[in-house]
Amino acid sequence: MTAVDLPLPLSRETDLPIAFDSAALDTPAVLVDLDIVEANIDRMAKFAARNGFALRPHIKTHKSVALARRQIVAGAVGICTATVSEAKAMIEGGVRDVLIAYPLVGKRKFERLGSVMGLANVALAADSEAVIESYIEFAEHVGRVIPVLVEVDTGMHRVGVAPKRAVVLANMIAKSHGLEFRGIMTHAGQVHDVTAAADIAAVARQEAATMGAVRQDVERTGLDVQVISAGSTITAAYFRPEDGITEIRPGTYIYNDLRTLELFACARDAMAVTALATIVSVDNSRLTIDAGSKTLTVTRDSAFGYGLLVEDNAAKVTRLSEEHGVLSLLTAAERFRVGQRVRLVPVHVCVWMDLQAEVYGTRGSQIVERIEVDAMRHSL
Ligand SMILES: Cc1ncc(COP(=O)(O)O)c(C=O)c1O
Repeated sequence: MTAVDLPLPLSRETDLPIAFDSAALDTPAVLVDLDIVEANIDRMAKFAARNGFALRPHIKTHKSVALARRQIVAGAVGICTATVSEAKAMIEGGVRDVLIAYPLVGKRKFERLGSVMGLANVALAADSEAVIESYIEFAEHVGRVIPVLVEVDTGMHRVGVAPKRAVVLANMIAKSHGLEFRGIMTHAGQVHDVTAAADIAAVARQEAATMGAVRQDVERTGLDVQVISAGSTITAAYFRPEDGITEIRPGTYIYNDLRTLELFACARDAMAVTALATIVSVDNSRLTIDAGSKTLTVTRDSAFGYGLLVEDNAAKVTRLSEEHGVLSLLTAAERFRVGQRVRLVPVHVCVWMDLQAEVYGTRGSQIVERIEVDAMRHSL
């Protein structure tokens, strides 16, 4: 359910299927190729099963209950979210196992979370004494024992405790009243700062090695580390069963984008999402489309600009206004005309999804399904 009555590209009254070049569909609209999504879900589920990793997809990519359910049906043990409101949307949609992989700070977050604590298994992450203290208070308030993972910094330097200090926080949780020390987690997002295959592998191997060392430190104090949660769409592929990682949390893999393509985590035909846009102006080798920064976002890539044109891979979106995307072609734009529809591949698909109330599942050139983005703009 969307909170406000947003105008949608496709009227609720329109019966599906329709062709995605149908005039009944307004643009810009975001299309999701369901055959590719299903293959992506299946591939990651098989990878996890083969290596003995539990799979807990991060839903910040799709933000959709329907897609979380498909991931769970394919074998995921639950999901991971970044925010309480994402977790709440998923729990209200029927998801029963959630890790909120973010240190929660602020009274309103706990009020929001309190309303769904009885409906699902919810685990939290912490990287400081202050956050653990607020979790102890929250556990007492809701009258439940809450599982907590210590977040470890394996090089991203965003959140996470230094590896050597994880043991202190693990023991604080274990000795507390109301919390259960469940294990350790990390996100090695610094992998996006490298480009060479060998450097990507090195980041992932370092992530696994640090988590193994932290596990040993914690176990030496007599605690049981049930969960070691690590690994993204990019890094999980480099883990080995003997690393001791118990759980992986890839998110982007369900859709993929030009960032996962560039970091060798997907093939070109594994990118599931495109923005359908209409050409509103043509001049020599310049095309202007009705998708600007409020659709494509301002995430820019040195090779692909703000997005890649499906119809001409040599063209890229080079300039954006809020509602205009400007593409430069290498040759005259004779093949293109005002009113023609084109499709763009995202640089970073997760941020696209946050701007859409609804996206459209396609098979071939038909729209067959409306996919609600239940956690659109759920940053609280
Ligand atoms: C804490 C955490 N876990 C998992 C992920 C999933 O990463 P990816 O989308 O690269 O698979 C992210 C991504 O931002 C994250 O922040």
